[in-house]
Amino acid sequence: MRHFVDLSRFTKEGVKELLAAAEEMVPRARDGLDLARGKILATLFYEPSTRTRLSFEAAMLRLGGSCLGFADARASSVVKGESLADTTRTVDKYADIIALRHPAEGAALACSFYAGVPVINAGDGGHLHPSQTLLDLLTIKSELGRLEGLNVVLVGDLRYGRTASSLALALAPFKPRLVCVAPEGLELPPHVVRRLRLELGTAVEETTDLAEAARVADCLYVTRIQQERFFSTDDYLKVKGSYVVDRRVAALMPPGALILHPLPRRDEVAVEVDEDPRARYFAQMHYGVPARMALLALLLRLIPREVPSREVKGEELALPCPNPRCVTASEEYLKSLYTPLLDREESLFAELGERKRYRCLYCDYEVAV
Ligand code: NCD
Repeated sequence: MRHFVDLSRFTKEGVKELLAAAEEMVPRARDGLDLARGKILATLFYEPSTRTRLSFEAAMLRLGGSCLGFADARASSVVKGESLADTTRTVDKYADIIALRHPAEGAALACSFYAGVPVINAGDGGHLHPSQTLLDLLTIKSELGRLEGLNVVLVGDLRYGRTASSLALALAPFKPRLVCVAPEGLELPPHVVRRLRLELGTAVEETTDLAEAARVADCLYVTRIQQERFFSTDDYLKVKGSYVVDRRVAALMPPGALILHPLPRRDEVAVEVDEDPRARYFAQMHYGVPARMALLALLLRLIPREVPSREVKGEELALPCPNPRCVTASEEYLKSLYTPLLDREESLFAELGERKRYRCLYCDYEVAV
């Protein structure tokens, strides 16, 4: 494991190893360790954050290391027009590991191509948020005692809420039943649904009936409508408040279920639900520090553990990625890279009379060639 940009690049065994390392860090997260003395974490945050940045920094400090970075790119040379590649080349002279949050989809992968040190994806636009997913998996496993075969209900902005796509893809090897409840236009991106169904064989249901979905939930994962990704306030106002988990919805849920939320919340989980013992979103934050301590320690090779991952190679095609939010649209020097879709999918597409399909290596958008 050289970088940590996408949890779905790990095998199921790899994800289990990451979780085992995170579990080992749980009791050590309070007292601290002296593992990373002399090591420096750079947190490069081009988008706002409270939990992710502070918990990465807390994790590095608890490991005995140090931190530097910026919490607002407007105070960096980015405003002078510096590319992500050049900023990366600069920071890797000052730090041993980088945690990057960036609005462009695929930014962390692009950063990893220019970094001589490990890169962690701390959120790349509406695409993925794998360190959040690791802590979500750790929360679910710790609180429910298992990950296999769960009924997971994803609620809210599943289109731009990167934590939802990230969790859905990472859970896939554990054979969940995914029930998606989203306002119109904010459903899971079609390429994510296709990948879940066709490549990963995951049962994905889509419904607008939150009450019905809540009745079967082992885990209700609620997300905020990502107002910052909307092009107009009117569009946001049309979907604001579409789904609210309140006391009435919680009353329908099974007794041992979990209500999770990556936070910050707006109105999608009513404050009255905080008192419900199944509401574990504040406990969820508690798992962020050990999960990130494990990631830092593994990437810096401070703890011995083999984490099996899959090598995903890109093929250069003279075809710009059609996703306007892809990092290749804003960082124009990047080459377009794609992976061909798997044989099983190809034959399915052939049956549908479609052409050969490729997936953008950066943002996972699919294109037909
Ligand atoms: C999430 C994010 O940034 O994607 N927050 C987090 O990292 N805990 C969710 C959100 O902003 O809604």
